[in-house]
Amino acid sequence: MKVIIGKDYAEISKLAAEKMIGEWDSYNILGFATGSTPEGLYQELIQANKDGKISFKDKTTVNLDEYIGLPENHKESYRFFMNTKLFDHVDVDKKNTNVPHAKDEFDVAACKNYDELVNKLGGADIQILGIGENGHIAFNEPNEELSANTNIVKLTDSTIKANSRFFNNEDEVPRYAITMGMGTILKAKEIILLASGVKKADAIKKLVEDDKVTTKNPSTFLKLHPNVTIYITQDIADAINL
Ligand code: GLP
Repeated sequence: MKVIIGKDYAEISKLAAEKMIGEWDSYNILGFATGSTPEGLYQELIQANKDGKISFKDKTTVNLDEYIGLPENHKESYRFFMNTKLFDHVDVDKKNTNVPHAKDEFDVAACKNYDELVNKLGGADIQILGIGENGHIAFNEPNEELSANTNIVKLTDSTIKANSRFFNNEDEVPRYAITMGMGTILKAKEIILLASGVKKADAIKKLVEDDKVTTKNPSTFLKLHPNVTIYITQDIADAINL
């Protein structure tokens, strides 16, 4: 696993974007993530698209996860996030953008269909990831067991609390989500994880300190992948003595 330290959020966003832009033509399937962390990277990609350096015309995208119970046009749905933070500003064909969607927490067919789609595409050529404070990846929450494939999860109190900053209050945060499993995510040929700010230091420590894998910190499953680069800010590196 390669670790790249940038002085701040702007710098890690730029470094990750430069890497992607440099290898753009080798990517057909782009795996995107939500959360606030990839926003800076998306702004860089939007600019590169406007400058004519990259095009999304022939690209297909797959997203990691989505809340259950929010309509697609809800301002906190991950479909809305992707449209407004990236897709609406680049030359992608929206028909080629995929965000999982489950009608309720019992919708196992939606999980199966999403895995079939990802498999048919051959997995993402590059998958962008953020990380939760508790080490969650997409919505794979720390647990005794994890599902390998796309699955429906009950969000932990810690994630509901962390994500309530986007809603009026904690009660409005959906309780369930559909998410690619760690197995689905590991099908990507290359993975980039971005983490900014000391709140993520504990989670990142578990990811880089040794070669142990644990369902208590789903990000540690990334240790099983041969091509992962993590971009972290200097304050995280300092906090964990990197
Ligand atoms: C959410 C998303 C994750 C994301 C995480 C961190 O719960 N499902 O994909 O990585 O939160 O978000 P942020 O980047 O805003 O800290």
